[in-house]
Order: sequence, then structure tokens, then C-alpha cells
Amino acid sequence: MNTLTTRIKLNNGTAIPCLGFGTYKIKDSAEAYNSVRSALEAGYRHIDTAAFYENEKEVGQAINDFINAGNAKREDIFVTSKVWKTEAGYEKTLAAFEKTMERIGLEYLDLYLIHWPASYAFDDDWENTNRSTWKAMTEIYNSGRVKAIGVSNFLTHHLKALMESDVIPAVDQIEINPGFLQEDTVNFCQENGILVEAWSPLGRGKSLDHPVLKELAEKYGRTVAQIILRWEMQHDVVPLPKSVNPSRISENSKVFDFELSDEDMKKIDAIEPYGNSGHSPDQA
Ligand code: A2P
Repeated sequence: MNTLTTRIKLNNGTAIPCLGFGTYKIKDSAEAYNSVRSALEAGYRHIDTAAFYENEKEVGQAINDFINAGNAKREDIFVTSKVWKTEAGYEKTLAAFEKTMERIGLEYLDLYLIHWPASYAFDDDWENTNRSTWKAMTEIYNSGRVKAIGVSNFLTHHLKALMESDVIPAVDQIEINPGFLQEDTVNFCQENGILVEAWSPLGRGKSLDHPVLKELAEKYGRTVAQIILRWEMQHDVVPLPKSVNPSRISENSKVFDFELSDEDMKKIDAIEPYGNSGHSPDQA
């Protein structure tokens, strides 16, 4: 049986825990610190932050305090951060990484992602902008200060511009929730050895009242959140549920002792778009 510490190998050999803890929209300092602390205490060993979330300092502090109290070693905890789209390009990305490292207070990151692609809506030279951001990412990776690099919110056409590089993205973190599996991108990633992570795996909570999911929750004796996270993991996606509530943080981690049948997976696959944010990487 898999657990919160079961790891999946990325395309460069680094291994990532199969369920993570998301911290988007946790801007309040105490709340950010406490929720990461609760996640670590609940057994999560994979924490996802970003410069854009404005909580790298608190996330890093909670991780360091947990380690310094003797509860884990640094290498037990997988930590991700991201460079925001305003810092696209070679020089700016290198500088943004230094600021992230100062704020987070860790010696290395396990994963560093380009948070959002440059896209044709705003940048006539978007492919080259993404390539030059990626060149900086590759240099950071080669310096050994991050164990793996990847992207977030890259659709297939964005990814294709990077596939000729020396280092292929290890991860693409995209929005996935019931009704919004983004199959084109997921298939492209999985065919090319890029692990897919899901942000907003619960549709920011909006997916939780869907009647099909409620029926399945009843059938399996689980909560709707657990059914959704299980559906994502059975699609070989690493979900990153966010919560500031310790009991929900714990609830979201208890997804390893049951399995959805193929038929029920298909029922969830067939849900129409429902809880997705509507943010398109090409229009924002
Ligand atoms: P809260 O932080 O108050 O627990 P997503 O991970 O898709 O972004 O969803 C996060 C939202 O879903 C947050 O509003 C969070 O609220 C809520 N949430 C997270 N886990 C659960 C859960 N198990 N049950 C109900 N709501 C949840």
C-alpha cells in the first residue's frame, strides 16, 4: 500500500512523494506557518509554495522548525517553489531564484518551476521568452541548488518549445479537478516522461458538492475530497490539496487504503467542467 511518503521517480531520478500539500492563497503569516506545520505533523512530506503566494518565508520556517526539532531530516521533505511570470527571462529568473532562497531559508529546493508560461496573447516572442527562462532554470539545476526543474500551467504548445533543451521538464503542475482533467496536456506529459501535478485538485472546494461525487463518497464510505484525490492519483497525477484546517489536512491524507473501480473512474472522467477556475494560461 502506498503512503504519504511513497515516492515516484521523476525523469532525472529525483523522487517525489505521491501526494503533496498546497499553500496557494495562504498569505496570512501565522496561518501559513501553522498549516504547513499541521501538514508535516499529519505526515505530509511534500510541500508546495511559490514566490507569488507570498508565504515562502513562513513555509520555510515551518519546515526548518520541524527539522530542527528532530522530527525529520531535510532530505525527507520535498519542497517546491516557483518563479512568477513577471520575472520571465534569463537574468530576472536567476535573480528571482536568489530571492526565493533568501526568503525560504533552505539550502536547496527539491523542485523549482516556471509558474506560468509566456504566451502569445502578451508576447510575440513567447517561445523564446520561455526558452530563456528555461535556460536560467537549467543553470540553477546544474548548480545543484535544486534537485529538479519543471514548469506549471504549460499546455502542450508551451511544452513543445522546451523539448529540444538539454534538460527536459521533470514536472508540469496544472489545474486538474473533476470535469477538468486537461487530457491533452496530461497525455503529452505522460508520453514524454513529465510527471503531472494537480493544483486546485478540489476545485478550490467547489467540486465538493457534485452529485456524482457525493454518490461515490457514500458508496465507498469516504468523503468527497478523498474520492477526488484518489481519482487524481489513479490517473498518475500528484495532487496538491490546500487547507488551513488541521482536520481537513488530515482527511486529505487518508487516501491510500481504498481504490476506485474502473467504472467509477469513468463516471468521474465523464463529469462536465464544474469546479475549474477558468484561468487559461494563454489568456492571463
Ligand atoms: P480550508 O482551507 O478552509 O480547509 P484546492 O486544494 O482545490 O485549492 O481547495 C482548497 C479549498 O478547499 C479551500 O477553500 C479549503 O478550505 C477547502 N478544503 C480543502 N480540503 C477540504 C476538505 N477535505 N473538505 C472540505 N473543504 C476542503
